[in-house]
Amino acid sequence: MKTITKALIDHHEEIRKLVKKVKKDNSKFIFLKKHLDVHHELEEDLLLSKLHKIKKIKDESLESQEEHVILNLALLDLMDFPKDNERWMIKFKVFEEILDHHLSEEEEELFPEAEKILSKKQLTDLGAEFEELKELRLSAALETKPIKESEKPKK
Ligand SMILES: [Fe+2]
Ligand SMILES: [Fe+2]
Repeated sequence: MKTITKALIDHHEEIRKLVKKVKKDNSKFIFLKKHLDVHHELEEDLLLSKLHKIKKIKDESLESQEEHVILNLALLDLMDFPKDNERWMIKFKVFEEILDHHLSEEEEELFPEAEKILSKKQLTDLGAEFEELKELRLSAALETKPIKESEKPKK
């Protein structure tokens, strides 16, 4: 069973791959944005909200959440800014630097600390919840799955 910290790190890897794709083709940006929107929401709801209540790790956890605020603003700016303007990729590279810093700080500092504080059961329960919600929210956001016959509205 995967712990939530391992599940989040695996998602970070997916996100890093998407960043590389966007650098080659910025029409892929929307996929990266959707992954990060879902990632930030679930990371905050499932993990950070719990860490905020623990004195030892509270400040670091709040810092992670504040970095999400900055990253989300940068994502909105990149969303609105014309993609054919030469400044778009410059903006994206600045965003990438902030993102890189954020992901490594979580992986190297916050998550190892959280693994010491939360129980193995909590970590794996939250991991399962993360995986389930991630699939649900991404498939809804990216509309990758067709609506099942049974879910179609009846006439
Ligand atoms: Fe994260
Ligand atoms: Fe994060």
